[in-house]
Amino acid sequence: MDQELNGAMSSVSINSNGLATKPHLNGHNNTNTSTSTNNNSSSNNSKDETDNVRRKATTTTAPTTTNASPASTTVIQTSSASAAEKKKMVYELCQQLLLTDEQIQELCYRILHEVRRGLAKDTHPKANVKCFVTYVQDLPNGNERGKFLALDLGGTNFRVLLIHLQENNDFQMESRIYAIPQHIMIGSGIQLFDHIAECLSNFMAEHNVYAERLPLGFTFSFPLRQLGLTKGLLETWTKGFNCAGVVNEDVVQLLKDAIARRGDVQIDVCAILNDTTGTLMSCAWKNHNCKIGLIVGTGSNACYVERVEDAELFDVQDNHKPHVLINTEWGAFGDNGALDFVRTEFDRDIDMHSINPGKQTFEKMISGMYMGELVRLVLVKMTKAGILFNGQDSEVLNTRGLFFTKYVSEIEADEPGNFTNCRLVLEELGLNNATDGDCANVRYICECVSKRAAHLVSAGIATLINKMDEPHTTVGVDGSVYRFHPKFHNLMVEKITQLIKPGITFDLMLSEDGSGRGAALVAAVACREDVVNSK
Ligand code: GLC
Repeated sequence: MDQELNGAMSSVSINSNGLATKPHLNGHNNTNTSTSTNNNSSSNNSKDETDNVRRKATTTTAPTTTNASPASTTVIQTSSASAAEKKKMVYELCQQLLLTDEQIQELCYRILHEVRRGLAKDTHPKANVKCFVTYVQDLPNGNERGKFLALDLGGTNFRVLLIHLQENNDFQMESRIYAIPQHIMIGSGIQLFDHIAECLSNFMAEHNVYAERLPLGFTFSFPLRQLGLTKGLLETWTKGFNCAGVVNEDVVQLLKDAIARRGDVQIDVCAILNDTTGTLMSCAWKNHNCKIGLIVGTGSNACYVERVEDAELFDVQDNHKPHVLINTEWGAFGDNGALDFVRTEFDRDIDMHSINPGKQTFEKMISGMYMGELVRLVLVKMTKAGILFNGQDSEVLNTRGLFFTKYVSEIEADEPGNFTNCRLVLEELGLNNATDGDCANVRYICECVSKRAAHLVSAGIATLINKMDEPHTTVGVDGSVYRFHPKFHNLMVEKITQLIKPGITFDLMLSEDGSGRGAALVAAVACREDVVNSK
């Protein structure tokens, strides 16, 4: 049982100063380091991202203009006219990707309508935005202490963590990332949970807690119909997972069964939670204004603090607590056609070729699992039309899934007029003869796709901020797109500012490993509750 697991990827310990103390790669190919810190500005956690390697611009050359001056010779005039014409065509085709203020306002109305439908008993069964009750009612008060295990499933990788919450908002954390092989992502539920239990057991042995019975928080970032803090039925798989025999089952029970099948470790599952909930909790630990948790990573989703009287599905007898966290599962917004007025041919293409057609419509327009592919589809269309790369495509460009979302961040990280990253990306795609005009057009396409995503997310966040109607709301945010895209944060701040009611203020706070530390905090708050209840 101590043997190395296939797919064990990396192990990192951190202390409360955010310093990685004993990074140690496992000798496997394709290693990946997860580093999490307790310092907002430098966290580099890769838990739920499609891809996070960022290539640095190595040179900063003088800006190159796409349109040559119309003066000069006839030859230059011709090529200039042609470049300008192409630029115009790109611009025109991309207009469908840009949302007008009226469209964004309309989206806010529609999102609010769907959130209300999700919350209300009568309309919930047919609502797309399910607004699941999380049973988390208490935000951390900063006094949570102790050693916790956490499992984090829901992005590209699976992680096991050991977190020690200490005084003065200090914490120690050790974690290891394990790959979830594709055949397990779409295999049987038993295989998946056996794999998770095996990783957990190995991790406990390696970290000398094999014989301890520790409380565990399970971050399970999929739509979960929760029936309590430790019970939740999977509604549907998202983000490329499709394990048989799990939908409508209690995933906590499936985990416990897998642990029992091994029979080697003892665990107290204290809480199951969504990554948005973990994000909110980890930010609220330090900032008590944090009332929204947002993920813009492989998937996209948000949770927020709702009044108990508006959460009609919350079935706990009056316990005098006024609020409960709601996991909106907004990724499914638009599955009933509510987004059709802004969807494009590219969105329909993505959906048609996805593992879950007709589902997660909003998510497919926003998140890291799809953003690169959206750009690729636009590039292919323009190349076929002869507007880009002189009509010369490449095998990689024509292959689904090979324009990674990290490319969008890299291309937009170039200084304006500089195409260093852009050219490196195009070379990786086998497009070696791009002109500066091509590069400028590729960049513009990336900007349109990422700006649309930021504006869609902003419409959702502004709707929640307005609904809560607090004087100030902090939004805890995590996810690879938000973390690594150079403009996402600013685009969001700008748009949300336009959309919220006058007099309300907000800020966006980068989460410190919400899925890991957040899970420990939910478990800690639950334990705190147990102690109180047992007195
Ligand atoms: C998907 C999942 C959701 C999760 C989000 C971000 O939308 O359904 O539960 O929060 O991805 O990871």
